[in-house]
Amino acid sequence: MPGRVLSVASEYVPLVKTGGLADVAGALPGALLGQGWDMRSLLPAYPGLIEKAGAGQEVWSDPDLFGGPARVVMGQVGADMVLLLDAPHLYDRAGGPYGNPKDFPDNAQRFAALSWAASRIAITGLSDGWVPDVMHCHDWQAGFAPAYLRFAGDTRVKTVMTVHNIAFQGNASAAMLGELRLPFEAFNTDTLEYWGHLSSLKAGLATADAITTVSPTYAAELMRGDFGMGFEGLMAYRAADLHGILNGIDDTVWNPETDPEIARTYTRAALGRKRPNRDALMAEFGLTGIDGPLGIVVSRLTDQKGIDLIVATAADFVAQGGGLAILGSGEPYLEEALMDLVKAHPSRIGLRIGYDEALAHRMFAGGDAVLVPSRFEPCGLTQLYGLRYGCVPVVALTGGLADTVIDANPMARMANVATGVQFHPVDALAFGQALRTVVELHRDAKGWAAMQKRGMSQALGWDTSALAYAQLYESLTA
Ligand code: ADP
Ligand code: GLC
Repeated sequence: MPGRVLSVASEYVPLVKTGGLADVAGALPGALLGQGWDMRSLLPAYPGLIEKAGAGQEVWSDPDLFGGPARVVMGQVGADMVLLLDAPHLYDRAGGPYGNPKDFPDNAQRFAALSWAASRIAITGLSDGWVPDVMHCHDWQAGFAPAYLRFAGDTRVKTVMTVHNIAFQGNASAAMLGELRLPFEAFNTDTLEYWGHLSSLKAGLATADAITTVSPTYAAELMRGDFGMGFEGLMAYRAADLHGILNGIDDTVWNPETDPEIARTYTRAALGRKRPNRDALMAEFGLTGIDGPLGIVVSRLTDQKGIDLIVATAADFVAQGGGLAILGSGEPYLEEALMDLVKAHPSRIGLRIGYDEALAHRMFAGGDAVLVPSRFEPCGLTQLYGLRYGCVPVVALTGGLADTVIDANPMARMANVATGVQFHPVDALAFGQALRTVVELHRDAKGWAAMQKRGMSQALGWDTSALAYAQLYESLTA
């Protein structure tokens, strides 16, 4: 029987986004709602969000939430109910959700507060009588929530902790234990302690009833020393409670048949209509004379994403007729390296530093291949957008990238099942070879189109995954 679920995350599309967490926290509740679950999503009321969500009704309050008064106001986004934690002393500031370019010094308190509020709502419910059966927490920002619940002695509400990226661990000084309202006796290696610090992610992983991560392969990787980032022991210990559930995409937003941002809409059956999007994208980036594949990158520019491998292989790719359009922002040294590439190949490589959602749509519509050479990738969404838009994914064989793309190896080509190109190990040599394969595959126009169409017919929406979450909630509350 579907019940009530409180979803807790620091980001939520369409209200606030820095990465894939927002896409998932924004889309999953809607999918579960469609399956009969009564969902409400709690997030901080960053500047402007109360207006955006038309939130008015106050449903919870606390005179002292980590140094100031707080209340929760309820609003609606589409069919989704959102609960905005309005605590001006914590969230009413410029600089994005975490502080940009530098993290806010009180992020530990800011997200402990989100977690505290979630735990109190779970225990006592909201003033309109709504009380959750399940509290679903996303990433370190919500990690203390299951722990606060446990420390309060509540076992009625079941908890799920979802790891979107184990690299973000929510570490804080152990001296903050009291200030963060955590019991001293829980500062041990089984619960809160992580290499002498406090870790909110560990708190969640240690105390939640169930743990999920965003792909089956990443679930397996998390138990290994080369991917677990210090948590491999805990993850292996909790293996029986750990589930890998693949992310979906919001296929009403990411749909080349209806996308209002792109030059010309197209379908699998009328793939020729993708071409004007390529022409428009080349013009937008000032690119000319590319008769090989036009590769795109839409990414945070960080080590995780393997952007240095793009830098290392670009000249060879261009020499073979390929071109590149890159959109992203991140590490200054990577931004500079990409700018140098553009200087060296101005008509073949284009770059936009920044964050631009509409341009991202135009890139998937216009690109022939999306390049995702990540060193690790819990799920990854851009390869899924690529599949949806006939923009063939070229991906490292890791995490969700391994689970969502079928490599065009000779056997898969013979069986007509390939949807992209995978490479391993994640280094410049293997990536360079993958790009050569892409150039070769692209020369065979018929085979390439068949590969595009297979990707476009892959089911990528939330239905299947939402069902897996629903089954998990049901097994916990049964
Ligand atoms: P991560 O969350 O690790 O950054 P994902 O692939 O899960 O990686 O999600 C990234 C999301 O952010 C995708 O929706 C992608 O399209 C979007 N994105 C990343 N960088 C940009 C950018 N510069 N402009 C627009 N969208 C971006
Ligand atoms: C994280 C991961 C990414 C995943 C996203 C949504 O940001 O880095 O791989 O797709 O969360 O789950």
